[in-house]
Amino acid sequence: MSAGLGTEIVGVVNKLQDVFTAVGSTASTIDLPQICVLGSQSSGKSSVLENIVGRDFLPRGTGIVTRRPLVLQLIHRASTTPEAQKPAAGAKENPDEWGEFLHLPGQKFYDFGKIRDEIVRDTEAKTGKNAGISPHPINLRIFSPKVLTLTLVDLPGLTKVPVGDQPRDIERQIKDMLIKYISRPNAIILAVTAANTDLANSDGLKLAKEVDPDGSRTIGVLTKVDLMDKGTDVIDILAGRVVPLKMGYVPVVNRGQRDIEQSKSISSALEAEASFFENHPSYSSKSNFCGTGYLSRRLNQILLHHIRATLPEIKARIAEQQKKHAEELEALGGLEASQNSAGVVLSVITEFAAEFRTAVDGNTKDLSPHE
Ligand code: GDP
Ligand code: NA
Ligand code: MG
Repeated sequence: MSAGLGTEIVGVVNKLQDVFTAVGSTASTIDLPQICVLGSQSSGKSSVLENIVGRDFLPRGTGIVTRRPLVLQLIHRASTTPEAQKPAAGAKENPDEWGEFLHLPGQKFYDFGKIRDEIVRDTEAKTGKNAGISPHPINLRIFSPKVLTLTLVDLPGLTKVPVGDQPRDIERQIKDMLIKYISRPNAIILAVTAANTDLANSDGLKLAKEVDPDGSRTIGVLTKVDLMDKGTDVIDILAGRVVPLKMGYVPVVNRGQRDIEQSKSISSALEAEASFFENHPSYSSKSNFCGTGYLSRRLNQILLHHIRATLPEIKARIAEQQKKHAEELEALGGLEASQNSAGVVLSVITEFAAEFRTAVDGNTKDLSPHE
C-alpha cells in the first residue's frame, strides 16, 4: 500500500493513542481532522479517496454514484496474524484488514468488493435506484495495520440539473448537505476539479471559498490530467496564475472508466500515474510535486502540523488527570504507585515528542510549495 498515508505518522500517532488507552484515558484522544472531498459530480472524488486509502472499495463511475455521505473511519489496529500465516502480497483477503458498517453491527467484511456491494445496496435501500440523494450518512469503519486512525468523508457531487426522480431543488439540497460537513473547523477540504474542465467555474472551489475564505484548510486536487487536450497542461494552475490557492494544487491521474471495467489494480494504477508525470514534457521536471503519493505526503504534513498545534492541550489534559489521580491515591495512601505510573506516561510522551519532531522535519523537507 505504497500510496497510503505514510508509515511514520501512523507510528507516532498510534503510539500516542496507545498511551492514552494504556492509562485508561478515554477523554484524551487526538482530535484529528476529517478529510472531506468536494467537487462536481464525476470529477473523480471517490477515485481520489480510494487512492489515498490504497484499497478498492468505493462505488465509482459515470453518473451519480455517491448519493449519500460516506463517513469512513480508518482505524489502526496492530496485526495479530502470525508471520507464517500471513497471506501473500496482493492476496484478495487479509485476516488483519476488514470493514464494519454501523448499520450491520458485528458483521466483518474481509472482501473489500463486498464492502462496495453493501454501500450500493444500502444507498439504494435508503434513496431508491433512481438518482435520489439522502443526507443520511453511511458509516463504515476500516480496521487495518496499514492505516492511520483518521476520518475521510466521501460526499455526493455538486450538480445543477435534476435527473430522474430528483427534486427540483436538488442543487440546494446537495449544497446544504456539503456545507454541513465542510464548515467544521476540523475539516480539511480536498476541492476536486477535473483538469479538462474550466477551473474558474469550479463549483467545488467556489463552495470551499464560502466556508474557508482565506484558504487555510483547502487543497486543490486536479484530476483527469491524462484527459487534457494535447498541448495543454495545468502548469498555469499549479503556479497560482488561474485561481490562486494558499495551499496549492496537486495534479493526479486516477483510473479511467475503462481501467475500472478491466479491474485494473490500485497498485498498477499508481505505477502508471507515476510514469505519466515522470515522462510528460510539462511535468517531468516537477514530478515530485505531482500524483497521489505527493498528495498523501501533503495530507501527512497537514495532519502533523495539526497534531503539533493540539499537543500542548493534550499534555495539559493528561497532567490534570494525573494530578487528580494522584490526589485520589494519596487519600487512599498509595502515593508511591501513582508517582511511578505518572513517570512512565511522561517518559512516553517525551519520547513521542522527539519522534514527532523527527517525523515533522522529515515530512517538511521535500514539501516546498510549487514555484
Ligand atoms: P465522483 O463522482 O466525483 O466520485 O467521481 P468518480 O471517482 O466516481 O469518477 C467518475 C469517473 O471518472 C469514473 O469513470 C472514473 O474512472 C473517471 N476518472 C476519475 N478520475 C480520473 C482520471 O484522473 N483520469 C481518467 N481518465 N478518468 C478518471
Ligand atoms: Na460519479
Ligand atoms: Mg463519488
